[in-house]
Amino acid sequence: MRDTETFYLSPEDLYQRLKHIRIGGTVCHYSLKKCEELVVLINEINLLKQQKNAVILAHSYVSPEINYGVSDFTGDSLFLSCKAMRTQARIIVFAAVRFMGETAKILNPSKTVLIPAKSAGCSLADSITETQVRTLRKEFPDHTFVCYVNTSLAVKAECDVCVTSANVYEVVANIPNDKIYFLPDRYMGENLREEMHKRGFDKDIQFFNGRCHVHENFSPEMVFKVRTEYPHAKVLSHPECTPRVCRSSDFVGSTSQMLAYMQESKSEEFLMLTECGLAARLEAEYPGKRVVGSCALCEYMKSNTLEDILRVLKEPRITDEVVINEDLRLRALRCIEKMFEYSGN
Ligand code: 13P
Ligand code: SF4
Repeated sequence: MRDTETFYLSPEDLYQRLKHIRIGGTVCHYSLKKCEELVVLINEINLLKQQKNAVILAHSYVSPEINYGVSDFTGDSLFLSCKAMRTQARIIVFAAVRFMGETAKILNPSKTVLIPAKSAGCSLADSITETQVRTLRKEFPDHTFVCYVNTSLAVKAECDVCVTSANVYEVVANIPNDKIYFLPDRYMGENLREEMHKRGFDKDIQFFNGRCHVHENFSPEMVFKVRTEYPHAKVLSHPECTPRVCRSSDFVGSTSQMLAYMQESKSEEFLMLTECGLAARLEAEYPGKRVVGSCALCEYMKSNTLEDILRVLKEPRITDEVVINEDLRLRALRCIEKMFEYSGN
């Protein structure tokens, strides 16, 4: 989003960045007065960030005051992983959830990675254990095990190739095996099966039964209702949504791909079937465009606060830091490196 150079952010500057955000009702409604309060913390964080040589990476789903106040880079998990891998900063503060902080540590182990989230889980990452993967591998010995990046370090270490929502189709298409076991997201697995078929690949795709509790709740009925009310609206969904929802959408992609689609689109109205943070980004960055219908909140992503970012920078507790076993790291790294190999990055 911007580089690590520290500058003083005035309440007016912050207000200009946030004033168009309407999504989330009063929680995410920014007045100049609210911005006056927020900049006190924001400027303290930005100063400390420079003094400690830290970079703040934030997922699009976290609160707007983080993304537009203190984040150096905001985006999807692939973009943030690449930023984590290449940063020169000594400390990475990862405002997102645990598996993203772990991925940063796997890719750049000499850095101190700090997680400010109070509750850094993820319903997908928490849906499968490494023991379950080992059992499945015995059941499907000829399959290439592909894991979504939303998995723990230990699960990645048991798998062959990692993917993110931004590159899943491309990576799986390039894997030189027609037998694929995809985990943990059932819906992404079903969407993957359909997409591979559409692209003319004859792959046997098996998948696990994990689900994201945020995305599984969107329904085709919601899409139908919005299309009736706003016939010109474009419907965008994340591949963690059900296949029925994805089929009824105009575009399916990662959070960054959804933003890019909106930017290019001539349409002015969008239904965003994903976490509300992305809808807030649309409102903040493209004031001529409008979000219609509803989005959903991920309580894990939203458990990141400015107060906790300041705390981890000032006086990190042992539990804030990502510490990983080197053997597991190297095995998980191989799985992530395969992703870069098959996606051509
Ligand atoms: P993205 O990689 O698209 O940012 O998705 C991460 C995620 O957790 C979606 O729920
Ligand atoms: Fe995990 Fe779902 Fe939250 Fe994404 S939205 S971090 S998949 S629980």
